[in-house]
Amino acid sequence: MSEFPKLRLRRLRRNDALRRMVEETTLAVKNLIYPLFVVPGKGIKKEIGSMPGNFHWSVDTLPKEAESAARLGIPAVLVFGLPGSKDETGSGAYSKDGTVQKAVRALKSAVPELVVITDVCLCDYTSHGHCGVVKKGCVDNDATLELLAKTALSQAEAGADIVAPSDMMDGRVKVIREHLDGNGFQDISILSYAAKYASCFYGPFREAAGSTPKFGDRRSYQMSPPNAREALREIELDIQEGADIVMVKPALAYLDIIRRARDAFNHPLAAYNVSGEYSMVKAAAQKGWIDEKMAVLEVLTAIKRAGADIIITYHAKEAATWLK
Ligand code: PBG
Repeated sequence: MSEFPKLRLRRLRRNDALRRMVEETTLAVKNLIYPLFVVPGKGIKKEIGSMPGNFHWSVDTLPKEAESAARLGIPAVLVFGLPGSKDETGSGAYSKDGTVQKAVRALKSAVPELVVITDVCLCDYTSHGHCGVVKKGCVDNDATLELLAKTALSQAEAGADIVAPSDMMDGRVKVIREHLDGNGFQDISILSYAAKYASCFYGPFREAAGSTPKFGDRRSYQMSPPNAREALREIELDIQEGADIVMVKPALAYLDIIRRARDAFNHPLAAYNVSGEYSMVKAAAQKGWIDEKMAVLEVLTAIKRAGADIIITYHAKEAATWLK
């Protein structure tokens, strides 16, 4: 039997080289996806109040920012768009000349090697701020599917490499897959927000995207925070429907879900280090209460250790410079 004083776990912590040799988790720049917010207009680079260090970009200023991310080794960006005007059915989401569609075309021509992922949802585009069509005060699942499929197709036509449905309607991965395949886009991947919780940590994002619901909340379609087994059912269904990559969101308060998903499925797994998680770190760092670099790297390493292959994070660029 080997025990103290023969056994001493501190022996392998004596210096940096030893510690690095036995590190079990390696965070790499290639694991990171950088989200970007695109707005109508020209020459815009406007800091988002609730997310210091992140900006609203217009279609003409966006490619330079994406290029600088690519130069740092970041493999992919996730594009969110704000429309010129909103309506009941979120038509800005699937218009050929919508903000995202224009942004994707600009990105693919300026930085062709960068993977462009597009958010497929209606909430940035609807006047009521919900993720689907509202009928009699409820978000109508089946009426929404067709619009999501149209949105995904219009993004694929603009050149998106991956479409990422974040709406949490039942059956949307199946309908999107069929619609893409039926129109010659069988090689475009689907990254599904499979287990997406109704979380308060989306607060800063909703300010950035102007997507706070005008009535009610998203609890009739996003998941309840106390549920873990249900997350595995959501993920399993999305895999059956044809998701290529599945996601757990948010990340930090749901590390157990990431671990369970990693153990249960073999698909590539993404986790979304969401806006509220970002802004908490930023705010505490600005107040001098935590060391920002150490906090960011610790958080991202924890998400990777929990089992995520891919991390969507607003810290992507700074983390990339620290990981170089
Ligand atoms: C759209 C969407 C949201 C986020 C990503 N896609 C907001 C929401 O569901 O209200 C949140 C991202 C973040 O907080 O960083 N449905």
